Amino acid sequence: MTRIDTIPADGTTAVTVRGLVKHYGATKALDGVDLDVREGTVLGVLGPNGAGKTTLVRCLSTLILPDAGTAVVAGFDVVKQPRQLRRTIGLTGQYASVDEKLAGWENLYMIGRLLDLPRPAARKRADELLERFSLTEAAKKPVLQYSGGMRRRLDLAASMIGQPAVLYLDEPTTGLDPRTRNEVWAEVKRMVADGVTVLLTTQYMEEAEQLASELTVIDRGRVVAGGKVDELKAKVGGRTLEIRPSDPGQLPEMARALSETGLDGIAGSQIHDGMLFVPILADVQLTAVIGLLGGRGFDIAHIGTHLPSLDEVFLAITGEKASEQSDGTPTDAQLKGAAA
Ligand SMILES: Nc1ncnc2c1ncn2[C@@H]1O[C@H](COP(=O)(O)OP(=O)(O)OP(=O)(O)O)[C@@H](O)[C@H]1O
Ligand SMILES: [Mg+2]
Repeated sequence: MTRIDTIPADGTTAVTVRGLVKHYGATKALDGVDLDVREGTVLGVLGPNGAGKTTLVRCLSTLILPDAGTAVVAGFDVVKQPRQLRRTIGLTGQYASVDEKLAGWENLYMIGRLLDLPRPAARKRADELLERFSLTEAAKKPVLQYSGGMRRRLDLAASMIGQPAVLYLDEPTTGLDPRTRNEVWAEVKRMVADGVTVLLTTQYMEEAEQLASELTVIDRGRVVAGGKVDELKAKVGGRTLEIRPSDPGQLPEMARALSETGLDGIAGSQIHDGMLFVPILADVQLTAVIGLLGGRGFDIAHIGTHLPSLDEVFLAITGEKASEQSDGTPTDAQLKGAAA
């Protein structure tokens, strides 16, 4: 097998995408996307409905051909070496890809056979993965009888059969309840601990925060921001100081005392949920605020700071709330909604 020599010699980048373009008629689903996923890490690709996430995953899985640009995964070019590339990747698509009429075990065994595993090896792998994803008890039941979370876990198990070096997870927890979402996250974390490189698409800021070390934010087929999760959050705005007085009745008085200081950003302070939230633009302000409140004898029950949430980050970067594309073309989510 020949490896493409555009891959960095140190081999630390598992996925390299440059200028990737994909059009559907007049829709630019991908409009020149660049990204890198470092080996053994999780890159979160964050974007609203219709941003181009699934199109990206399809290109990187060789399911569709890009119109322009390059993408190299585990050293293989998506256009020139699709066969080799497919052997190194796993894919959990946005919608369950397992056969509902078959039992969980049968699904995994069949995929193993399709991947050319000898019968005993396919059997062993199916058993191992069912055990690992806590599906052993449900192994013989048809998938039709599985809950949403069990299906997702089976999907993840199915994508792991070929022991992929690079795994794509396209919105792995959309539609799951919080508990099931946590279970899926735990499994993804285990895979990453085992050395799998993951490209994860999501609309959930919390999911990106939980799983990804780096983020690429896309909107209408273009990368609008990227970097380490914390860096992105810090870039968007400073920290917010939250103060809860022992007596909520003191909140207005506290706010008034602070406003008299005339510190930068103080005017943006807000009172809600029994707390005073103060924008902190520089560390010296933090000391000033705490010093002042202490000096005035306010009784404080809780004090803390937080960085902006990724929802706020997205809003600040794209200038709008995560929204659907407005060209009238239905997105996956809309099609799914229409089918339901
Ligand atoms: N097969 C297709 N034919 C025509 N247009 C398509 C096709 N697939 C996607 N599109 C369009 O390309 C754009 C990107 O779609 P894509 O499915 O990649 O977005 P997404 O980020 O995965 O959205 P969602 O969060 O809803 O899954 C959208 O405008 C969509 O309507
Ligand atoms: Mg999608």
